[in-house]
Amino acid sequence: MLVSEQINQIRKLLERIDSGTNVDAGNFYENPTNNYISKELANREWETFFCDTPQLVGLSGDLPEKYSFLTMKELGRPILAVRDGDGEFHAYVNSCRHRGVIVEEDERGTSRRFTCRFHRWTYDVNGSLVGLPKSDHFGQPETETLGLVELPSEERHGLLWVHPNPNGVIDLQELLTEELLVELETWNLDKLDYLGNDVYDVACNWKLAMDTFGETYHFSSLHENTLNNAFHGNVQCYDTFGNNHRMLLCRRDIDEMRKLPEDEWNITTAALPVYWLFPNVQLMPSKEGLYLVRAYPVPDNPGQHRSLISFYLRSEFSENAEMREVFTMISQGFAEVIRDEDYSVSASQQLTANSQSLDYVLFGRNEPALHHYHSTYERVLAKASEK
Ligand code: FES
Ligand SMILES: [Fe+2]
Repeated sequence: MLVSEQINQIRKLLERIDSGTNVDAGNFYENPTNNYISKELANREWETFFCDTPQLVGLSGDLPEKYSFLTMKELGRPILAVRDGDGEFHAYVNSCRHRGVIVEEDERGTSRRFTCRFHRWTYDVNGSLVGLPKSDHFGQPETETLGLVELPSEERHGLLWVHPNPNGVIDLQELLTEELLVELETWNLDKLDYLGNDVYDVACNWKLAMDTFGETYHFSSLHENTLNNAFHGNVQCYDTFGNNHRMLLCRRDIDEMRKLPEDEWNITTAALPVYWLFPNVQLMPSKEGLYLVRAYPVPDNPGQHRSLISFYLRSEFSENAEMREVFTMISQGFAEVIRDEDYSVSASQQLTANSQSLDYVLFGRNEPALHHYHSTYERVLAKASEK
């Protein structure tokens, strides 16, 4: 975030602390509970948001060197993302061209070759089929047409994007807006080292999981003994960038920081920025590193989702063993709060939604992120249905 913007936002946070005010959406928003249980909607959102929209498959630090790879099964297609011998990022459908077995089963690693366990067809990092055992028995197909299916991919400002549709187009300007791209660049997200991740399978719709990131109204109640110790609940800044938005969650460290001259202020001391990349990504940079939360639906089951929570440490600290240990511990603690506190209420909300006892749930004036997220969801889905 540009320094001038940091100062502006910190001033706003301080004003809100002092005046006991918060961001104000100006009205209520009634969100239909059907959005969390409808199979018809779930199918449409799967097609629109997960099969036909560019996906964030990780950060540059997830592929730290030549021949690094990672795989994902949570999207519309099994994905194999790699760095080739020149360090270039590529993505493929992780499916063998012989009879469709997933080629690489490991979630991450380093390899120059990917060999299918069924009959050992082998591919290189450029997706080419370079090994076909017993071709004198199998026959000799045109191997140059039987490489892994390549998917559109782009690495920008430390973010790894893949389009799950081989004919799809990645337009980050359109997806994120120019303004947000410029701001993301300032975070040096390409200089983060992967530390680890947690995977949570929770009996709630993926949007209910995302909703828990949409306000700090609950910090002093649900997180009374955890996040509330480090954050002023009910004080935030909020801005939108097209379909996406940025919340600044006010840290209690702002109370000490305000005594310093403005040129010593820093947004990562005053706040935890939360970038909500529509529809399912939360990107939270901090002084030490970054938390990345991604929520995925389970096809055909609107009442179930999977969250991937990944942690990264700024490269400048990665040689420091103590820093690694401490930040890993903090990150694990943060993920456990999400699992044990936030996602516990999400699962509870899902039970109510399943029972169809409420027609809608209510978002307050102090929950503008939820207004924006759900109105964007309705609009984008309706537009996709017109096609
Ligand atoms: S399915 Fe992969 S080698 Fe046969
Ligand atoms: Fe929370």
